Order: sequence, then C-alpha cells, then structure tokens
Amino acid sequence: MIRLGVNIDHVATVRQARRTIEPDPVHAAVLAILGGADGITVHLREDRRHIQDRDVRLLREMTPIRLNLEMATDDAIVDIACTVKPDEATLVPERREELTTEGGLDIIAHRDAVAKAMKRLKDAGIAVSLFIDPDRRQIEMARELGADAIEIQTARYSEARPGADRQKQLDILLESSALAVQLGLHLHMGHGLTYTNVRPISRIPGLEELNIGHSIVSRAVLVGMERAVREMKAILAEEANNTA
Ligand code: PXP
Repeated sequence: MIRLGVNIDHVATVRQARRTIEPDPVHAAVLAILGGADGITVHLREDRRHIQDRDVRLLREMTPIRLNLEMATDDAIVDIACTVKPDEATLVPERREELTTEGGLDIIAHRDAVAKAMKRLKDAGIAVSLFIDPDRRQIEMARELGADAIEIQTARYSEARPGADRQKQLDILLESSALAVQLGLHLHMGHGLTYTNVRPISRIPGLEELNIGHSIVSRAVLVGMERAVREMKAILAEEANNTA
C-alpha cells in the first residue's frame, strides 16, 4: 500500500503564532504515528516560520518511522540535515514571500546547486528526493542527477476544478509517473491533497508515497491528529483494496 507521510509543519505554525511551546509538533508526530502514519515530514525553512531546528532534532530522536526533511539547497540547511540525518531529504524551492511551496524545484535551472546539495546529503547516507513539476525534462534530469526518488507536485491538480480541468491535470500526472517508473525512480507525490481529491491520485500506478500536510492538520484541529491520520489511511486502504 502507498505510504502516507504526514507533514506536521502547520502544527508548528500554530505554535509560532504565539512563539510559545504548544502545540508541539513532536507530540503531533507521536499521535500521527498512533493513527498509522508511515512517515513524518517537516520543512525546515530558512525563515523558520514554522518548524524549528529543535523540532527536527527531537523528531529524529522520537520518530521510529521514516523522517523526511523538506529543505532548500542552502548550505546552512544542508549542514543541519547532515547532522540530524533524516531518512530522506526532499529538495524544494523556497521564496520568502510565498505562502507555501509554489511549484516544483527547477532542477535544470538550478542543476549545480542541486547536484552540490545532493552529493553532501548522499555522502551523509541520506536518500534524496527532488520535488519537481510533472514535466518530462525535469524527470529526466532527476534521473541524470542520480536522485533516489522524485516527488511530483500535485498543486495544479489540487487547484483544478473537478471535471475536465482536473482530469487534464490527472492525465499529466499519469504520464509523468509512467516515465518516472520507467526510469527507475521511486515515485512520491504531494501538495494540496485532501480527503476529497486524493482518491484518483492514490490509484496512480507505481506511486509509493504521498506527503499530505494542510488537510490532515486542518482536520486534526477539529477531531484530533490520531483520528485525522486514521481517516486518511482508511481512504488509501479502501482504494488499494479496490484496485487489488
Ligand atoms: N510535499 C512538499 C514537497 C511540500 O513542500 C508540501 C508543503 O510543505 C507538501 C508535500 C504538503 O502539502 P500540503 O500541506 O498542501 O498537503
């Protein structure tokens, strides 16, 4: 079955709104694990708007499941990753003024910076995933650079209106996924996925992991993290049974 990586950044967003100690993303991770999360994902941004260095260190200690660190290619963040040693690092683009990660990392334009960060991470024993657009040239470049995995960004699918627009975006994701699988890349997806739009994505052949944050944390605020994760896992299990 597809792994569910739960992105808990926005638990830290609530904490940082008051610069206090609660809610603690480490507690959220424990509850997400109890709810069946297969991995915990956090984005240590250069502006530290939500996740802090201490969170990443403690999560590494407390998380017996996969820890995926989303990060820019910046040297100082790579230093932290090499010390903390998450199971996987996902390289993402970052702009200070953005609300959230917008679009994939252009690994053709930023080839040298990506290659440099990848080498350091891989030398430290960390698997590297590249968060990219569903674009043939980007996927081929990921292969050329020696990425272990790619995370194809699903933002355009998530933002498309149900119907023909969404189907078009789904077709693009299907085509890109087939190429990734053909090139031997592990295939992950994420961004903007919710309880209502995740089903068609979860049926994509070859998909191994989804990273979902905002929707799960939003639901967790109302029903609790453990239940919110369990409900998402139930959807993925249902779809896996239907396609088996
Ligand atoms: N994957 C990546 C690479 C991301 O940057 C994000 C957002 O931090 C997500 C997945 C999760 O997106 P969302 O919060 O919209 O589920």
